[in-house]
Amino acid sequence: MTVLDIPTSETKLDLPPLKLGNITVETPVVLAPMAGITNTAFRRLCREHGGGVFVSEMVTSRALVERTPESMRLISHDPDEKIRSVQLYSVDPETVGKAVRMLVEEDHADHIDLNFGCPVAKVTRRGGGAALPWKLDLFTDIVQTAVREATKGGLPLTIKMRKGIDEDHLTYLEAGRIARDAGVAAVALHGRTANQFYSGKADWDAIARLREALPDVPVLGNGDIWSAEDAIAMVRQTGVDGVVVGRGCQGRPWLFADLMSAFEGSDERHKPGMAEVAAAVYRHAELLVDTFDDENKALRDIRKHMAWYFKGYVVGGELRAALASVPTLEVLRGLLDQLDMSGEYPGSDAEGPRGRAGTPKRTALPAGWLDSRTVSGSEKEELTGAELDSSGG
Ligand SMILES: Cc1cc2nc3c(=O)[nH]c(=O)nc-3n(C[C@H](O)[C@H](O)[C@H](O)COP(=O)(O)O)c2cc1C
Repeated sequence: MTVLDIPTSETKLDLPPLKLGNITVETPVVLAPMAGITNTAFRRLCREHGGGVFVSEMVTSRALVERTPESMRLISHDPDEKIRSVQLYSVDPETVGKAVRMLVEEDHADHIDLNFGCPVAKVTRRGGGAALPWKLDLFTDIVQTAVREATKGGLPLTIKMRKGIDEDHLTYLEAGRIARDAGVAAVALHGRTANQFYSGKADWDAIARLREALPDVPVLGNGDIWSAEDAIAMVRQTGVDGVVVGRGCQGRPWLFADLMSAFEGSDERHKPGMAEVAAAVYRHAELLVDTFDDENKALRDIRKHMAWYFKGYVVGGELRAALASVPTLEVLRGLLDQLDMSGEYPGSDAEGPRGRAGTPKRTALPAGWLDSRTVSGSEKEELTGAELDSSGG
Protein backbone atom coordinates (compact mmCIF):
# COMPACT_ATOMS: atom_id res chain seq x y z
CA MET A 1 0.00 0.00 0.00
CA THR A 2 1.26 3.48 -0.80
CA VAL A 3 2.30 5.57 2.18
CA LEU A 4 0.65 8.97 2.19
CA ASP A 5 0.61 11.80 4.69
CA ILE A 6 -3.01 11.07 5.48
CA PRO A 7 -3.64 10.08 9.10
CA THR A 8 -4.30 6.39 9.46
CA SER A 9 -5.99 6.65 12.83
CA GLU A 10 -9.74 6.89 13.27
CA THR A 11 -9.51 10.68 13.53
CA LYS A 12 -11.49 12.98 11.27
CA LEU A 13 -10.18 13.15 7.71
CA ASP A 14 -10.34 16.92 7.27
CA LEU A 15 -10.47 16.55 3.52
CA PRO A 16 -10.88 19.98 1.91
CA PRO A 17 -13.90 20.63 -0.33
CA LEU A 18 -13.47 19.27 -3.84
CA LYS A 19 -12.68 21.95 -6.42
CA LEU A 20 -13.87 21.26 -9.94
CA GLY A 21 -12.79 24.40 -11.76
CA ASN A 22 -14.95 27.17 -10.35
CA ILE A 23 -17.28 24.71 -8.60
CA THR A 24 -16.71 23.93 -4.94
CA VAL A 25 -18.20 20.68 -3.71
CA GLU A 26 -18.33 20.73 0.08
CA THR A 27 -18.73 16.95 0.45
CA PRO A 28 -16.18 15.41 -1.94
CA VAL A 29 -18.57 12.79 -3.22
CA VAL A 30 -19.80 12.08 -6.73
CA LEU A 31 -22.78 9.93 -7.70
CA ALA A 32 -21.33 7.83 -10.52
CA PRO A 33 -23.06 8.12 -13.88
CA MET A 34 -25.14 4.97 -14.34
CA ALA A 35 -27.15 4.42 -17.49
CA GLY A 36 -30.73 3.54 -16.64
CA ILE A 37 -30.27 4.61 -13.00
CA THR A 38 -29.03 8.18 -12.49
CA ASN A 39 -31.96 9.96 -14.09
CA THR A 40 -33.63 13.06 -12.59
CA ALA A 41 -35.75 10.87 -10.27
CA PHE A 42 -32.87 9.00 -8.68
CA ARG A 43 -30.63 12.06 -8.55
CA ARG A 44 -33.36 13.90 -6.62
CA LEU A 45 -33.63 11.08 -4.06
CA CYS A 46 -29.87 11.06 -3.59
CA ARG A 47 -29.38 14.78 -3.24
CA GLU A 48 -32.24 15.04 -0.74
CA HIS A 49 -30.02 13.01 1.59
CA GLY A 50 -26.65 14.68 1.17
CA GLY A 51 -24.29 16.85 -0.82
CA GLY A 52 -22.08 16.09 -3.75
CA VAL A 53 -22.12 16.02 -7.53
CA PHE A 54 -24.82 13.88 -9.10
CA VAL A 55 -23.90 12.89 -12.65
CA SER A 56 -26.51 12.12 -15.29
CA GLU A 57 -26.63 8.93 -17.34
CA MET A 58 -24.20 8.91 -20.25
CA VAL A 59 -25.45 10.53 -23.43
CA THR A 60 -23.76 9.95 -26.77
CA SER A 61 -22.43 13.10 -28.38
CA ARG A 62 -23.91 12.29 -31.73
CA ALA A 63 -27.42 11.73 -30.37
CA LEU A 64 -27.11 14.99 -28.49
CA VAL A 65 -25.96 16.95 -31.51
CA GLU A 66 -28.88 15.43 -33.41
CA ARG A 67 -31.16 16.44 -30.53
CA THR A 68 -32.92 13.10 -30.29
CA PRO A 69 -35.76 13.27 -27.75
CA GLU A 70 -34.06 10.63 -25.57
CA SER A 71 -30.76 12.54 -25.48
CA MET A 72 -32.59 15.75 -24.59
CA ARG A 73 -34.26 13.89 -21.72
CA LEU A 74 -30.90 12.52 -20.58
CA ILE A 75 -29.37 16.00 -20.26
CA SER A 76 -32.41 17.53 -18.55
CA HIS A 77 -32.18 18.56 -14.93
CA ASP A 78 -34.61 19.57 -12.24
CA PRO A 79 -34.70 23.33 -11.66
CA ASP A 80 -33.14 22.92 -8.21
CA GLU A 81 -30.11 20.90 -9.35
CA LYS A 82 -27.32 23.30 -8.46
CA ILE A 83 -24.56 21.46 -10.31
CA ARG A 84 -26.02 20.24 -13.57
CA SER A 85 -23.63 17.46 -14.46
CA VAL A 86 -23.74 15.71 -17.85
CA GLN A 87 -21.69 12.75 -19.02
CA LEU A 88 -20.81 12.54 -22.71
CA TYR A 89 -19.59 9.60 -24.73
CA SER A 90 -17.79 10.02 -28.02
CA VAL A 91 -15.22 8.45 -30.32
CA ASP A 92 -14.92 11.51 -32.53
CA PRO A 93 -13.27 14.84 -31.64
CA GLU A 94 -15.45 16.89 -33.98
CA THR A 95 -18.70 15.46 -32.64
CA VAL A 96 -17.67 15.80 -29.01
CA GLY A 97 -16.63 19.38 -29.73
CA LYS A 98 -20.07 20.12 -31.13
CA ALA A 99 -21.80 18.41 -28.21
CA VAL A 100 -19.80 20.34 -25.61
CA ARG A 101 -20.39 23.60 -27.50
CA MET A 102 -24.11 22.89 -27.55
CA LEU A 103 -24.16 22.23 -23.79
CA VAL A 104 -22.19 25.43 -23.17
CA GLU A 105 -23.95 27.78 -25.57
CA GLU A 106 -27.43 26.60 -24.66
CA ASP A 107 -26.63 26.53 -20.94
CA HIS A 108 -27.58 22.88 -20.36
CA ALA A 109 -24.79 22.03 -17.88
CA ASP A 110 -22.43 23.28 -15.18
CA HIS A 111 -20.04 20.33 -15.39
CA ILE A 112 -19.24 17.86 -18.15
CA ASP A 113 -17.67 14.43 -17.73
CA LEU A 114 -16.32 12.27 -20.55
CA ASN A 115 -16.84 8.51 -20.48
CA PHE A 116 -13.71 6.42 -21.07
CA GLY A 117 -14.75 3.57 -18.83
CA CYS A 118 -17.61 1.73 -20.47
CA PRO A 119 -16.73 -1.98 -20.95
CA VAL A 120 -19.90 -2.96 -22.81
CA ALA A 121 -19.20 -4.76 -26.11
CA LYS A 122 -21.41 -2.56 -28.27
CA VAL A 123 -19.28 0.40 -27.16
CA THR A 124 -15.74 -1.05 -27.05
CA ARG A 125 -16.24 -2.94 -30.32
CA ARG A 126 -16.40 0.49 -31.94
CA GLY A 127 -13.31 1.75 -30.13
CA GLY A 128 -15.28 3.69 -27.53
CA GLY A 129 -15.41 3.74 -23.74
CA ALA A 130 -12.59 1.85 -22.05
CA ALA A 131 -11.05 0.91 -25.43
CA LEU A 132 -10.40 4.49 -26.46
CA PRO A 133 -7.48 5.62 -24.24
CA TRP A 134 -5.37 2.92 -25.92
CA LYS A 135 -5.24 5.21 -28.95
CA LEU A 136 -3.18 8.06 -27.56
CA ASP A 137 -3.66 10.45 -30.48
CA LEU A 138 -7.43 10.05 -30.58
CA PHE A 139 -7.77 10.25 -26.82
CA THR A 140 -5.65 13.41 -26.74
CA ASP A 141 -7.65 14.98 -29.56
CA ILE A 142 -11.01 14.23 -27.93
CA VAL A 143 -10.01 15.49 -24.49
CA GLN A 144 -8.28 18.61 -25.83
CA THR A 145 -11.24 19.50 -28.03
CA ALA A 146 -13.74 18.96 -25.25
CA VAL A 147 -11.70 20.99 -22.74
CA ARG A 148 -11.27 23.82 -25.26
CA GLU A 149 -15.02 24.06 -25.88
CA ALA A 150 -15.92 23.71 -22.20
CA THR A 151 -13.40 26.38 -21.23
CA LYS A 152 -15.11 28.89 -23.53
CA GLY A 153 -18.10 28.70 -21.21
CA GLY A 154 -16.02 28.44 -18.03
CA LEU A 155 -17.24 24.86 -17.43
CA PRO A 156 -15.05 22.29 -15.70
CA LEU A 157 -14.56 19.14 -17.75
CA THR A 158 -13.54 15.87 -16.15
CA ILE A 159 -12.81 12.39 -17.42
CA LYS A 160 -13.75 9.02 -16.00
CA MET A 161 -11.78 5.96 -17.00
CA ARG A 162 -10.80 2.40 -16.13
CA LYS A 163 -7.29 1.06 -15.54
CA GLY A 164 -7.10 -0.13 -19.13
CA ILE A 165 -8.28 -2.88 -21.39
CA ASP A 166 -6.59 -5.70 -19.45
CA GLU A 167 -3.56 -6.07 -17.19
CA ASP A 168 -1.27 -6.22 -20.27
CA HIS A 169 -2.81 -3.12 -21.79
CA LEU A 170 -3.07 -0.59 -19.00
CA THR A 171 -3.81 2.97 -20.03
CA TYR A 172 -4.70 4.94 -16.92
CA LEU A 173 -1.37 6.59 -16.07
CA GLU A 174 -0.74 7.87 -19.58
CA ALA A 175 -4.36 8.86 -20.06
CA GLY A 176 -4.33 10.68 -16.73
CA ARG A 177 -1.25 12.68 -17.72
CA ILE A 178 -2.68 13.53 -21.13
CA ALA A 179 -5.93 14.68 -19.55
CA ARG A 180 -4.08 16.73 -16.93
CA ASP A 181 -2.00 18.39 -19.66
CA ALA A 182 -5.16 19.11 -21.64
CA GLY A 183 -6.52 21.03 -18.65
CA VAL A 184 -9.21 18.76 -17.19
CA ALA A 185 -10.64 19.75 -13.81
CA ALA A 186 -10.32 16.23 -12.38
CA VAL A 187 -9.62 12.65 -13.33
CA ALA A 188 -11.70 9.77 -11.98
CA LEU A 189 -10.44 6.19 -12.00
CA HIS A 190 -12.54 3.05 -11.64
CA GLY A 191 -9.96 0.54 -10.41
CA ARG A 192 -10.83 -2.23 -12.84
CA THR A 193 -9.83 -3.13 -16.38
CA ALA A 194 -12.47 -3.43 -19.08
CA ASN A 195 -11.91 -7.21 -19.11
CA GLN A 196 -12.90 -7.39 -15.47
CA PHE A 197 -16.26 -5.84 -16.24
CA TYR A 198 -17.64 -5.51 -12.68
CA SER A 199 -16.10 -8.72 -11.32
CA GLY A 200 -13.38 -9.15 -8.75
CA LYS A 201 -12.21 -6.29 -6.57
CA ALA A 202 -11.46 -2.74 -7.55
CA ASP A 203 -7.73 -2.07 -7.38
CA TRP A 204 -7.34 0.81 -4.96
CA ASP A 205 -3.53 0.62 -5.24
CA ALA A 206 -3.86 1.70 -8.88
CA ILE A 207 -5.95 4.65 -7.68
CA ALA A 208 -3.17 5.54 -5.22
CA ARG A 209 -0.60 5.30 -8.03
CA LEU A 210 -2.62 7.68 -10.18
CA ARG A 211 -2.98 10.08 -7.25
CA GLU A 212 0.79 10.08 -6.84
CA ALA A 213 1.44 10.46 -10.57
CA LEU A 214 -0.83 13.50 -10.85
CA PRO A 215 -0.11 15.74 -7.88
CA ASP A 216 -1.42 18.82 -9.69
CA VAL A 217 -5.00 17.83 -10.54
CA PRO A 218 -7.82 16.41 -8.39
CA VAL A 219 -8.05 12.63 -8.61
CA LEU A 220 -11.27 10.83 -7.74
CA GLY A 221 -11.39 7.17 -6.76
CA ASN A 222 -14.10 4.78 -7.86
CA GLY A 223 -14.94 1.15 -7.27
CA ASP A 224 -16.48 -0.93 -4.50
CA ILE A 225 -17.54 1.78 -2.09
CA TRP A 226 -20.52 0.13 -0.37
CA SER A 227 -20.58 2.23 2.79
CA ALA A 228 -19.37 5.49 4.24
CA GLU A 229 -16.62 3.54 5.96
CA ASP A 230 -15.44 2.27 2.58
CA ALA A 231 -15.32 5.84 1.28
CA ILE A 232 -13.17 6.98 4.19
CA ALA A 233 -10.96 3.90 3.79
CA MET A 234 -10.44 4.68 0.12
CA VAL A 235 -9.40 8.26 0.89
CA ARG A 236 -7.01 7.08 3.59
CA GLN A 237 -5.49 4.36 1.42
CA THR A 238 -5.16 6.31 -1.80
CA GLY A 239 -5.07 10.00 -0.92
CA VAL A 240 -7.76 10.83 -3.47
CA ASP A 241 -9.50 14.19 -3.40
CA GLY A 242 -12.95 12.64 -3.57
CA VAL A 243 -14.87 9.46 -4.21
CA VAL A 244 -17.26 8.33 -6.93
CA VAL A 245 -20.01 5.99 -5.74
CA GLY A 246 -22.08 3.86 -8.09
CA ARG A 247 -23.75 0.58 -7.20
CA GLY A 248 -23.46 1.22 -3.46
CA CYS A 249 -26.34 3.67 -3.59
CA GLN A 250 -28.64 1.53 -5.71
CA GLY A 251 -31.66 1.09 -3.45
CA ARG A 252 -29.86 3.20 -0.84
CA PRO A 253 -30.06 6.88 -1.78
CA TRP A 254 -29.56 7.57 1.94
CA LEU A 255 -25.94 6.49 1.53
CA PHE A 256 -25.34 10.17 0.70
CA ALA A 257 -26.39 11.07 4.25
CA ASP A 258 -23.87 8.57 5.62
CA LEU A 259 -21.16 9.86 3.31
CA MET A 260 -21.78 13.44 4.39
CA SER A 261 -21.71 12.42 8.07
CA ALA A 262 -18.53 10.44 7.62
CA PHE A 263 -16.70 13.24 5.82
CA GLU A 264 -17.79 15.58 8.62
CA GLY A 265 -16.28 13.16 11.14
CA SER A 266 -19.59 11.91 12.53
CA ASP A 267 -20.45 8.26 13.22
CA GLU A 268 -24.13 8.86 12.59
CA ARG A 269 -25.52 6.48 9.96
CA HIS A 270 -28.95 6.34 8.37
CA LYS A 271 -30.64 3.05 9.24
CA PRO A 272 -34.11 3.07 7.71
CA GLY A 273 -36.80 0.71 8.92
CA MET A 274 -39.28 -0.91 6.55
CA ALA A 275 -41.74 2.00 6.58
CA GLU A 276 -39.09 4.41 5.36
CA VAL A 277 -37.86 2.06 2.64
CA ALA A 278 -41.44 1.52 1.43
CA ALA A 279 -41.98 5.28 1.33
CA ALA A 280 -38.75 5.73 -0.66
CA VAL A 281 -39.79 3.08 -3.18
CA TYR A 282 -43.18 4.72 -3.72
CA ARG A 283 -41.64 8.17 -4.03
CA HIS A 284 -39.01 6.85 -6.45
CA ALA A 285 -41.79 5.39 -8.61
CA GLU A 286 -43.74 8.66 -8.52
CA LEU A 287 -40.64 10.63 -9.50
CA LEU A 288 -40.01 8.21 -12.37
CA VAL A 289 -43.54 8.86 -13.61
CA ASP A 290 -42.61 12.56 -13.72
CA THR A 291 -39.27 11.79 -15.39
CA PHE A 292 -40.74 9.65 -18.16
CA ASP A 293 -44.17 11.22 -18.24
CA ASP A 294 -45.35 7.63 -18.70
CA GLU A 295 -46.62 5.49 -15.81
CA ASN A 296 -46.14 2.22 -17.63
CA LYS A 297 -42.49 2.95 -18.43
CA ALA A 298 -41.85 4.27 -14.93
CA LEU A 299 -43.24 1.16 -13.26
CA ARG A 300 -41.26 -1.09 -15.57
CA ASP A 301 -38.19 0.86 -14.52
CA ILE A 302 -38.81 0.74 -10.76
CA ARG A 303 -38.96 -3.07 -10.84
CA LYS A 304 -35.19 -3.44 -11.16
CA HIS A 305 -34.72 -1.35 -8.00
CA MET A 306 -36.87 -3.61 -5.79
CA ALA A 307 -34.24 -6.21 -4.92
CA TRP A 308 -31.81 -3.41 -4.06
CA TYR A 309 -34.22 -1.52 -1.84
CA PHE A 310 -35.38 -4.59 0.04
CA LYS A 311 -31.98 -6.32 0.34
CA GLY A 312 -31.86 -7.80 3.83
CA TYR A 313 -35.43 -6.83 4.79
CA VAL A 314 -38.08 -9.45 5.56
CA VAL A 315 -40.49 -9.29 2.64
CA GLY A 316 -41.57 -12.81 1.69
CA GLY A 317 -41.11 -14.55 -1.63
CA GLU A 318 -44.53 -13.93 -3.10
CA LEU A 319 -44.59 -10.27 -2.26
CA ARG A 320 -41.05 -9.85 -3.59
CA ALA A 321 -42.07 -11.43 -6.88
CA ALA A 322 -45.17 -9.22 -7.11
CA LEU A 323 -43.10 -6.10 -6.42
CA ALA A 324 -40.66 -7.12 -9.12
CA SER A 325 -43.44 -7.13 -11.71
CA VAL A 326 -45.56 -4.25 -10.43
CA PRO A 327 -47.63 -2.68 -13.25
CA THR A 328 -49.11 0.55 -11.82
CA LEU A 329 -48.69 3.03 -8.98
CA GLU A 330 -51.98 1.85 -7.53
CA VAL A 331 -50.86 -1.78 -7.42
CA LEU A 332 -47.53 -0.66 -5.96
CA ARG A 333 -49.37 1.14 -3.15
CA GLY A 334 -51.36 -1.99 -2.38
CA LEU A 335 -48.27 -4.23 -2.36
CA LEU A 336 -46.25 -1.89 -0.17
CA ASP A 337 -49.16 -1.74 2.29
CA GLN A 338 -48.78 -5.49 2.81
CA LEU A 339 -45.28 -5.05 4.24
CA ASP A 340 -44.66 -5.18 7.96
CA MET A 341 -44.09 -1.50 8.53
CA SER A 342 -42.76 -2.09 12.03
CA GLY A 343 -39.73 -3.88 10.56
CA GLU A 344 -36.45 -2.41 11.74
CA TYR A 345 -33.22 -1.86 9.88
CA PRO A 346 -31.75 -5.35 9.34
CA GLY A 347 -28.14 -4.25 9.82
CA SER A 348 -25.36 -5.77 7.75
CA ASP A 349 -27.84 -7.86 5.69
CA ALA A 350 -28.97 -4.59 4.07
CA GLU A 351 -25.42 -3.54 3.28
CA GLY A 352 -22.56 -4.74 1.11
CA PRO A 353 -22.30 -5.41 -2.63
CA ARG A 354 -25.34 -5.03 -4.85
CA GLY A 355 -26.03 -4.55 -8.54
CA ARG A 356 -24.01 -5.57 -11.54
CA ALA A 357 -21.13 -8.00 -11.02
CA GLY A 358 -20.58 -10.18 -14.07
CA THR A 359 -17.66 -12.38 -14.92
CA PRO A 360 -14.39 -11.36 -16.57
CA LYS A 361 -14.41 -11.57 -20.35
CA ARG A 362 -12.23 -10.50 -23.20
CA THR A 363 -13.09 -6.98 -24.30
CA ALA A 364 -14.57 -6.74 -27.77
CA LEU A 365 -12.35 -4.43 -29.84
CA PRO A 366 -12.14 -3.27 -33.47
CA ALA A 367 -9.86 -5.53 -35.56
CA GLY A 368 -6.17 -4.79 -35.00
CA TRP A 369 -6.95 -2.20 -32.29
CA LEU A 370 -4.12 -3.29 -29.99
CA ASP A 371 -1.48 -3.36 -32.74
CA SER A 372 -0.71 0.32 -32.51
CA ARG A 373 -1.14 3.13 -29.98
CA THR A 374 -2.28 5.51 -32.72
CA VAL A 375 -5.23 5.48 -35.09
CA SER A 376 -4.56 4.81 -38.76
CA GLY A 377 -6.29 6.88 -41.44
CA SER A 378 -8.81 4.20 -42.34
CA GLU A 379 -9.53 3.48 -38.67
CA LYS A 380 -10.30 7.17 -38.17
CA GLU A 381 -12.92 7.14 -40.88
CA GLU A 382 -14.50 4.02 -39.47
CA LEU A 383 -14.57 5.57 -36.03
CA THR A 384 -16.36 8.68 -37.20
CA GLY A 385 -19.04 6.45 -38.66
CA ALA A 386 -19.05 4.39 -35.49
CA GLU A 387 -20.15 7.18 -33.21
CA LEU A 388 -23.14 5.62 -31.49
CA ASP A 389 -26.43 7.30 -32.19
CA SER A 390 -28.21 5.63 -29.31
CA SER A 391 -27.87 6.70 -25.72
CA GLY A 392 -27.12 4.94 -22.46
CA GLY A 393 -25.11 1.74 -22.19
C1 LIG B 1 -26.05 -0.09 -14.28
C2 LIG B 1 -24.77 0.65 -14.49
C3 LIG B 1 -24.68 1.63 -15.47
C4 LIG B 1 -23.50 2.34 -15.67
N1 LIG B 1 -23.46 3.33 -16.60
C5 LIG B 1 -22.34 4.10 -16.70
C6 LIG B 1 -22.32 5.24 -17.55
O1 LIG B 1 -23.30 5.59 -18.23
N2 LIG B 1 -21.15 5.95 -17.62
C7 LIG B 1 -20.04 5.60 -16.89
O2 LIG B 1 -19.01 6.27 -16.99
N3 LIG B 1 -20.06 4.53 -16.08
C8 LIG B 1 -21.17 3.81 -15.95
N4 LIG B 1 -21.20 2.78 -15.06
C9 LIG B 1 -20.01 2.53 -14.20
C10 LIG B 1 -20.14 3.29 -12.87
O3 LIG B 1 -20.16 4.68 -13.10
C11 LIG B 1 -18.98 2.96 -11.93
O4 LIG B 1 -17.78 3.33 -12.54
C12 LIG B 1 -18.91 1.48 -11.60
O5 LIG B 1 -20.19 0.99 -11.25
C13 LIG B 1 -17.93 1.21 -10.45
O6 LIG B 1 -18.29 1.91 -9.30
P1 LIG B 1 -19.06 1.17 -8.08
O7 LIG B 1 -18.20 0.04 -7.64
O8 LIG B 1 -19.21 2.25 -7.05
O9 LIG B 1 -20.37 0.70 -8.61
C14 LIG B 1 -22.36 2.05 -14.87
C15 LIG B 1 -22.45 1.05 -13.89
C16 LIG B 1 -23.62 0.37 -13.68
C17 LIG B 1 -23.68 -0.67 -12.60
